Amino acid sequence: MTAQSTTAPERMDVHAIGASLSRLDGPAKVTGSARYAFEQPVPEPLYLHPLQATIAAGRVTSIDTGAAMAETGVLAVLTHLNALRVASTDDPELAILQSDRVAFRGQLLGGVIAESSEAARHAASLIDITYQPSHHQAELRADSDDLYAPEQLNAGFPTDTCQGDVDQALVSAARVVDQHYTTAMYHNNPMEPHATVAIWSDDGLTLYDSTQGVHQVRQVVAPVLGLDPDRVRVISPHVGGGFGSKGVPHAHVILAAMAAQLVAGRPVKLALTRQQMFALVGYRTPTIQHVRLGADADGRLSAISNDVVELTSRWKEFAEQTGAPTRIMYAAPNRRTTHRLAPLDLPVPSWMRAPGECPGMFGPEVAMDELAIACGLDPVELRIRNEPEVDPESGRPFSSRNLVACLREGAHRFGWEKRDPTPRSRRQEGWLVGTGMASSTYPVNRMPGSTATIRARSDGRFSVTIGAADIGTGTWTTLTQIAADVLEVPMERIEMHIGDTSFPFATVAGGSSGMTCWGSALVEAAGNLRACLDRDHAGVLPAEGVEATGHLPDNPWKEHYAMHAFGAQFAEVRVHEDTGEVCVPRLLGVFAAGRIINSKTGRSQFLGGMTMGLSMALHENSVVDPRYGHVANHDFAEYHIATNADVGSVEVHWIDEVDPYVNPVGSKGIGELGICGTAAAVANAAHHATGVRVRELPVTLDKFL
Ligand code: MOS
Repeated sequence: MTAQSTTAPERMDVHAIGASLSRLDGPAKVTGSARYAFEQPVPEPLYLHPLQATIAAGRVTSIDTGAAMAETGVLAVLTHLNALRVASTDDPELAILQSDRVAFRGQLLGGVIAESSEAARHAASLIDITYQPSHHQAELRADSDDLYAPEQLNAGFPTDTCQGDVDQALVSAARVVDQHYTTAMYHNNPMEPHATVAIWSDDGLTLYDSTQGVHQVRQVVAPVLGLDPDRVRVISPHVGGGFGSKGVPHAHVILAAMAAQLVAGRPVKLALTRQQMFALVGYRTPTIQHVRLGADADGRLSAISNDVVELTSRWKEFAEQTGAPTRIMYAAPNRRTTHRLAPLDLPVPSWMRAPGECPGMFGPEVAMDELAIACGLDPVELRIRNEPEVDPESGRPFSSRNLVACLREGAHRFGWEKRDPTPRSRRQEGWLVGTGMASSTYPVNRMPGSTATIRARSDGRFSVTIGAADIGTGTWTTLTQIAADVLEVPMERIEMHIGDTSFPFATVAGGSSGMTCWGSALVEAAGNLRACLDRDHAGVLPAEGVEATGHLPDNPWKEHYAMHAFGAQFAEVRVHEDTGEVCVPRLLGVFAAGRIINSKTGRSQFLGGMTMGLSMALHENSVVDPRYGHVANHDFAEYHIATNADVGSVEVHWIDEVDPYVNPVGSKGIGELGICGTAAAVANAAHHATGVRVRELPVTLDKFL
């Protein structure tokens, strides 16, 4: 295959791929035998309870550990005075306990190591820390005078883009939408808290860690601790969710390693509490989006722009790519996206399910609804009318783009044609009822380096090893399906091994790239295994077996095509006429995401994404108290996540999309697509129900009163 060839590469034959299969690790999980990080059996473990700063900025002036050390079962108190010196301070989030400086409330200042977690926690409460506070700023404002443009955004996206002249185009546009939209701060909150077990031995450091990527933990942690990466082993067979918060190791992993070094030889276990997670493992930055659309009277866009203000920690920069989806969604000759960061004395933001695309599909997709009304057009039709022929910013064709098919299929399945577009036109038993929709998109991501090894054994079985992660997505099952297909054997003959740095390198379970990166490496390994058998063994398996390795191949098509998945989200919303109470009895999504490897676990991914989008629309909101730089609602009693009673019917469909350019598996990635656009569909439906336009998430009852 070369980039110059004009014919698309051939796709593999499929049998197990696409099947609706229950997850292979399901029985182990429901019977409790699947081991998560904290449960790993290690000899004579000690327990670590962190100490956290209670001021937003300043210095520690003293730490009195006397009462804690006097407690039975306490072995040591770790602070900046006795912590090991790190070998690299390049990542300020990870270079903890190196000075007395406090950069945000909740920052790690040390920890208590004891024979039980209860003893450690109690002793931690006896430690007296005094501070010299300094001025801090913790309020996000679009008019702050210290906003700055980052050099680039997360994942390497450019900070600003500009084509034509949006200002000029708006002057001559027949219809204009010019509004501000805001998304809240959100915390990832996977079900399994972040947990690490650290053990030092003559071989180096072993970490049982709840992570989206064992090799990423090794790559990041080793240089901080001054270790050769070969001396760090990370093991993580089962993970109870991450949503991005486990995509990079956070400071608690270093804390566990430092604590274990103080009590050399004994394993140290650390599981963060839910409240600690609100300061230590990242969050999605709140955004303020100034969206402007200009169109002619028929709704054809002449201009589209999104100027974003969002926060970063002053301590370590994170720049969410909120404007990214505006760059590819709709045709408009005049275009502009900008990102400005407000540096605040807050914890470090990080990845959360669809960084950029998730918040960035709120403002513009609500604005499109407003434009449809201004043009007297159906919002589905408005989007179809602005479908670009090529990626409007790069000019490259799309490898496949089936947004229009998703919109039409979704409208049909949802019963959209029966909709009376007049707001506030439907009432049922005291409830105002409305429907709304929005588009969805997520890029096809790939990161280089994933490698898989397959060993054909004389007992007829195949051992497959790759350091991939299953964070609840179904990797154990889907990789087994891919292996079975490419080896053309039943799934029972595949022995899958993942989640360990002693297996070949795998990229992180992030950016919805798992099947692209790991799956394609597997396809290559299988091809190499077959070639090796034929070439060296005349097709006959020798008694000692045969092993072959495969890497994610470079994709020559990536320079020629824009690669994105698309979808259409539809919502029914009810708002109570008297109380303003909001509920969503019905969501329906149709997606075009290339080949779906397992229709059962794939459906679950979309279902989960849409539910998380519903939760973002109605409930989730991390409330910062700027006086203290503190998330006030830092627990599940007050940070509400949609539960069964909040979720009505959620229907998931996809169209059969064949994309020969994305990768040998034909998949585009589905972990993040489902959350994009959901909140806009809900807000648009709420407007249709009530006539009240909510531009600030979450869509709560006070906004209708
Ligand atoms: Mo996902 S937020 O790319 O780990």
